[in-house]
Amino acid sequence: MGVPLKLVPRSSMSDPSLASLAAARAMDPTDPAPPVSRPPGLSRRPRPRRIIAVGGGKGGIGKSMVSANLGVALAQAGLNVLLVDADLGGANLHTCLGVGQPAATLSDFLRKNKAQLEDVIVPTGVPRLSLIAGAQDALDAANLKYAQKQKLLKTLMGTSADYLILDLGAGTSFNTIDFFIMADHGLLVVLPEPTSVENAYRFAKAAFFRRLQQVEAQYGIQDMVESALTTREGSLRTLHDVLAQARRKDPAGAEKLEKELASFRIRLVVNQARTDADLNVGTAVAAAWKKFFGIEMDDLGAIRYDDEAWRAVRKRRPVLIERPDSPAATAIQRIAARILALDGTPEAPSP
Ligand SMILES: Nc1ncnc2c1ncn2[C@@H]1O[C@H](COP(=O)(O)OP(=O)(O)O)[C@@H](O)[C@H]1O
Ligand SMILES: [Mg+2]
Repeated sequence: MGVPLKLVPRSSMSDPSLASLAAARAMDPTDPAPPVSRPPGLSRRPRPRRIIAVGGGKGGIGKSMVSANLGVALAQAGLNVLLVDADLGGANLHTCLGVGQPAATLSDFLRKNKAQLEDVIVPTGVPRLSLIAGAQDALDAANLKYAQKQKLLKTLMGTSADYLILDLGAGTSFNTIDFFIMADHGLLVVLPEPTSVENAYRFAKAAFFRRLQQVEAQYGIQDMVESALTTREGSLRTLHDVLAQARRKDPAGAEKLEKELASFRIRLVVNQARTDADLNVGTAVAAAWKKFFGIEMDDLGAIRYDDEAWRAVRKRRPVLIERPDSPAATAIQRIAARILALDGTPEAPSP
């Protein structure tokens, strides 16, 4: 029997991610987040063209395992998938796929060593699944401006991929958060343990505040966001407060803001569930988030802790290929099916 988790989100008062957001913003006025814009070409084609970003509060929780296998599942469903290792510090997605150290990586493209995107895309051996391996020399690549990240995604969406899957680094730096909020599906991987749940809330809060920064000028709520980011006595502390004040000040503006925020739904993936109770942690986290912040989160489902999953990583093979009937593989297939259903593609299109 598992010990029930306490799932209450802590106040953002002492939240380092919010403090660092405020600090970074004060330090870098040249990098304002431009208004939200949808990635180009979405919904215009019979097949979905979507960006999935896989993030999480810390390393070692299965982000790469989920990214790689979700890629395999969608490719097996007949879709062209481009996996991008955007972990600008701990890139190892290629290893999960058994691809040797690629000659060219994302950083070569970013630094313009390779002018063509095609030069850094490598096959994975799985039909329809290709990969852009991660930067090995993380640090210089890790300081992209918001607009550069937007441009990168736009370029990546210019390929023939139906799905772009971004395997993000751990934590709440702008590099991670920006890609996360630009995605159509922001998948937040969480383990059923209090520390991981706490990290997940911190990640979710950082993502929402960054999103707020994007829309603040549009809705005239700069003051409110500013005050939410500074954690002095008497100032706004939570997203809930920000929204409540927005409603009082400008109901029409607040309504637009809420719509905008509602269109950004974090989708939880609970990984390494060991008990039946663990399987419901996603629902509980989403319910607590809703209660405290008044915002919906989706629970995409749980993946059980599965020896086959780590054995497959050790063999450098996706568990979906190595052991397609294992609990981990079937759970990831279910998650892929849910994403396809959300995108209005319940059936696999003919390749
Ligand atoms: N569902 C699971 N069951 C068992 N082991 C898992 C599971 N998910 C991940 N792992 C193990 O955790 C390790 C870390 O996963 P990884 O995807 O590299 O994490 P991250 O990308 O978040 O740093 C993997 O090497 C694998 O051995
Ligand atoms: Mg990883």
